[in-house]
Amino acid sequence: MSNRSIGLDEPLYRYLLDHSLREPDLLAELRAETAVLPEANMQIAPEQGQFMALLARLMGAKRYLEIGTFTGYSALAIALALPEDGEIVTLDQSAEWTATAQSYWERAGVDGRIRLELGEARDSLRALEATGEMDTFDLAFIDADKTGYHDYFEHCLRLVRPGGLILVDNTLWHGTVADPDDARDDTCAIRAFNDALHHDERIDLSLVPIGDGLTLARRR
Ligand SMILES: C[S@@+](CC[C@H](N)C(=O)[O-])C[C@H]1O[C@@H](n2cnc3c(N)ncnc32)[C@H](O)[C@@H]1O
Repeated sequence: MSNRSIGLDEPLYRYLLDHSLREPDLLAELRAETAVLPEANMQIAPEQGQFMALLARLMGAKRYLEIGTFTGYSALAIALALPEDGEIVTLDQSAEWTATAQSYWERAGVDGRIRLELGEARDSLRALEATGEMDTFDLAFIDADKTGYHDYFEHCLRLVRPGGLILVDNTLWHGTVADPDDARDDTCAIRAFNDALHHDERIDLSLVPIGDGLTLARRR
């Protein structure tokens, strides 16, 4: 018995995957293709994709906004969980990585419901607000440059409807947020972000220790 979250060593993590992961073949293939890239660790963990897809289904989400597409894993995981008339807007600045994403979305037959906006995320977010998409998203996922998290979160609070959910990735940042000797820009940005959300009265909050730490913020 315990009244605190359990840590996962390698055998226990393996057990978790072996006894709960239901990764569709195409997602597994995308994960394998991405694994050869030097930046492969930017991709979310498969159990996190499954968890996010479950949240989308629980909410009956139809519109999903994503900041940080990379090779398309999280967008595909959510696309497979949305209804036929679901819509995804995903933002990234890399034409190269998102070309892989688009090929997998096509193969999965979900490309018609995914709108990729290439460019600087802040510009795309400002454009979404300017074109009347405020309060229209059910679910958002922030997973791009860490020093941008504060701005991305403020945009998402306007773009997600009241009662909608904002997910934020890497909020435990490999454990370094709790290391007082780590003063790198990304670590400091995530610490400041976590502190700001802790007492933010505009949201309901939970920081879930899945993947690299996933914050759930429900817009009140
Ligand atoms: C951690 S990866 C996203 C991983 C993805 N969600 C997945 O499931 O595989 C971060 C992505 O954010 C993009 N990115 C970083 N800074 C950005 C910015 N300022 N504007 C737009 N995209 C950015 C990068 O090109 C990269 O593809």
